[in-house]
Amino acid sequence: MISGKFTDEWKRTVKCGEPRVADAGREVVLNGWLRARRDLGGIIFIELWDYTGVCQIVFNPETTPDAHARAKDLRGEYVLAVRGTLRKRPEGTENANLPTGEVELVASDFVLLSPSALPPFDPDGADGVNEDLRMKYRYIDLRREGMQKNLRVRHRVLKYTRDYFDKNGFLEVETPIFTKSTPEGARDYLVPSRVNPGEFYALPQSPQIYKQILMVSGCDKYMQIARCFRDEDLRADRQPEFTQIDVEMSFVTENDIISLIEHYFAGLFRETAGADITLPIPRLTWKEAMERYGSDKPDLRIDMEIIDITDVFRKGENPFARTIASGGAVKGLLLPGGGSLSRRELDEWENRAKELGAAGMANFQMKDGALKGPLVKFLSGDALLALAEKSGITQQDVLFVMSGEKWTASCEILGQIRLETACAFGLAREGWKFLWVTEFPLYEWSEEESRWTAVHHPFTSHVPEDAEFMKSDPARVLARAYDIVLNGSELGGGSIRIHDPETQQAAFDALGITPETARERFGFLLDALAHGAPPHGGIALGLDRLVMLICGAKSIRDVMAFPKNQKAQCPLSGAPSRVKQNQLETLFILSTAPDDE
Ligand code: AMO
Repeated sequence: MISGKFTDEWKRTVKCGEPRVADAGREVVLNGWLRARRDLGGIIFIELWDYTGVCQIVFNPETTPDAHARAKDLRGEYVLAVRGTLRKRPEGTENANLPTGEVELVASDFVLLSPSALPPFDPDGADGVNEDLRMKYRYIDLRREGMQKNLRVRHRVLKYTRDYFDKNGFLEVETPIFTKSTPEGARDYLVPSRVNPGEFYALPQSPQIYKQILMVSGCDKYMQIARCFRDEDLRADRQPEFTQIDVEMSFVTENDIISLIEHYFAGLFRETAGADITLPIPRLTWKEAMERYGSDKPDLRIDMEIIDITDVFRKGENPFARTIASGGAVKGLLLPGGGSLSRRELDEWENRAKELGAAGMANFQMKDGALKGPLVKFLSGDALLALAEKSGITQQDVLFVMSGEKWTASCEILGQIRLETACAFGLAREGWKFLWVTEFPLYEWSEEESRWTAVHHPFTSHVPEDAEFMKSDPARVLARAYDIVLNGSELGGGSIRIHDPETQQAAFDALGITPETARERFGFLLDALAHGAPPHGGIALGLDRLVMLICGAKSIRDVMAFPKNQKAQCPLSGAPSRVKQNQLETLFILSTAPDDE
């Protein structure tokens, strides 16, 4: 089929999703993609799609034989311009599921603007299609209502964000993509320099150092919609290339940043989700979050909390006695509705806990007014009473119990069981549950690297009272850091920064970074801090995660136009791909792979 010319007379006069019954009688032109097609007793029906929706079009062999004859050859995803008259659909043929469902366009003529190869999948039924196939033919995948909606929500979030920060006196400054390594806990993507043989740029894991230098430069309030690059294991909410709403401010303390971001979220959610967020957003210290919810990003839509029941097991002989004597703890988690779990189902949950690293997970159920479970025989009547009282267990519930030498580890395992059981029992409420998590530890011990590592990044300030422990007891030093959590997802994190070179050097020392290495990697920051650095702090929010939550998308990939798959590949373009030997030679890189032609 030959494509027709797109001239002024074929330009759309309405969009496909716009016609309503009040438009009956109007002559209009529609432009769009052919979606569904049905031949009914000589009459041909098609649906024409554009980003606003679909409109039904009728080709009648009696009134417009020429257009009807040509319409027989039209196939899925062909691009058309159709002229005709809108009319009210005949009684009984309306489609209540479509905004345009009460009207149809009776075609008088059309031009084919582009034919299409056979689409690899029907955009309307793409939900069950293999995701790599959807990404390979992303232009077809994006021709879907849901994906179009996501792109548009993302645009609204970006627009709202720029306007909000602009109104609050922020300056958007772009920082380099070819840069030096910024430590945010992932591996770097490296770019070889042709003019500097053997040397590499690192793509930024975040603009962290540059935004601090902008504060030293007197910029006062910086923001940037910044692209970041991290070579790390990918998950449903992680991409190797993602976008941050990056913010930094001078002469501020924690509360200034927290208040700025809370008002941003309140306005954004009013505008994009029609939701009222109550301010101030509640805060929990990291320790409390771990103790009560077993996570540094608790999902507060779930009411279940972890309780400490060490005291119940302190007396007498029981399997936890030794752990308690050596300083360990016993934790409990009450699952409402778990009273009906069978022996086999309880075993399955215990196996899940073991998979997560627990030595075991006992349970108590209340039957005929008495506690039942494998540990009952070890506890006195008083201890059982105390346990029932402390946990509030009823006939309907099960109390899971676990002991551990390291409280973080047992909290985290019970925290995961909390999430999974809540999901299985439908215990998460609808709605938006924001939370600030504060007072993180500054350092955590890395078994893998056998050294202290920064929980956030090495530029984070410690609380002043803990300065003396930086060398002697790094584990107890608290950071002036805060994370913003929404419905169990870490949306962003930030901190008040170190703003003098001596403290920054001390922080590097604590992390086992020698002065030589510090100078080589971060000398430019240390120099900047030595030239009049204002007290400053900031935050970065994950834009993709934010949009994903607002859209209710299951994967971060559904809110990005051209994402990478789980293997960091772009199925659409085929990146990454092999390059020619001579390109490598120009970059002074030796190929280890066999020559490709
Ligand atoms: P952080 O590393 O916590 O902080 O990152 C901030 C937020 O960015 C999002 N995020 C990601 N989103 C998608 N894919 C990823 N791979 C990914 N990694 C992180 C998360 C996270 O909360 N420079 C500091 C911020 C600061 O201190 O101001 C930083 O980058 O939502």
